[in-house]
Amino acid sequence: MTENGGPIPARPLPVSARSPGKCIVFGEHAVVRGAPELAFAIDLYTQVLVRPGTSHRLNSEPAEEVANEYFRTALRDWWPDGPALEVRSVSRIPRAAGLGSSAAFVAGLLAALSAPRGGIGRAELAQAAFDTERGAQGVGSPGDTATVVAGGYVAINGGPGDPIWTVRGPDRSWDVRRVADPGWVWVVAYTGIPRSTGEAVRAVGARLERPEGPALLAEFDRVATQGISAVQRGDRAEVARLMARNQELLSEVGVSHPRIEALINAAQPAAEAAKLTGAGAGGSIVVLPVPGREAELVRRLARAGGVPTVVRPTRDGVRLVEP
Ligand code: MEV
Repeated sequence: MTENGGPIPARPLPVSARSPGKCIVFGEHAVVRGAPELAFAIDLYTQVLVRPGTSHRLNSEPAEEVANEYFRTALRDWWPDGPALEVRSVSRIPRAAGLGSSAAFVAGLLAALSAPRGGIGRAELAQAAFDTERGAQGVGSPGDTATVVAGGYVAINGGPGDPIWTVRGPDRSWDVRRVADPGWVWVVAYTGIPRSTGEAVRAVGARLERPEGPALLAEFDRVATQGISAVQRGDRAEVARLMARNQELLSEVGVSHPRIEALINAAQPAAEAAKLTGAGAGGSIVVLPVPGREAELVRRLARAGGVPTVVRPTRDGVRLVEP
């Protein structure tokens, strides 16, 4: 086994794949325009089971009626003439919550579709998962899909050493690097407000087209660059300071939300830092707890109406499991 789990091996149907979700610490939105991002794979998983069927179905629903655009895009692009499939997806990652549910579904489904066709290398899978997610959403970066394929902490367009992969998009490419795990526990909390990544990304894109856009983007870049080195050094105080600054920037580009602000305030006494994570405009926050006060933090967030979960970074990227 290589450090990132090795390729997805060849295996006949039925095949089951399990993918982690993700949590972004620095750089969401700006990464779409090529700025750095830091994210880690979380120990909440989606499991996708693929077996022969009589017509393409997802969780018993015929493919034509399924609202899940990722499913249809994946079948169209990666299983164009293949036999009918019965697909089941079970997830502990809340949907449209900023925690990587769509990336995990896409990576799990593509890993499972690749196995009966001879398997796939991780670099290729990271590219295919990005193409599928972006194909379904119309916009976005490979940050989410690369993180769930790689596992662990991942820096996009930043961080130390050589890239493990370069993921290509229609008008730019993104380098993916590993970052050492500082061994911290994190807490995420869902606001209960689902949101559309595509809409949030388009709205931020419009903000960044304004005259102040380039200066804002440069500040996003600076914060994420310094944030990546602070995580590498294990410097919590600096990470906390930069997370707070990143939240101000996200608020400035219009993707904070009163429920996000309420959860950040509720977290404060038991948190070193808190910010929105993912596309925002609802979705979730990520909190760096004061060590030893995680239980209190979870209680505070729940009392404020959030759905909190303690998450640990997982080294496992997407992989095949027993069906
Ligand atoms: C969504 O999890 C992260 C965004 O930066 C979009 C993307 O990178 O594709 C908002």
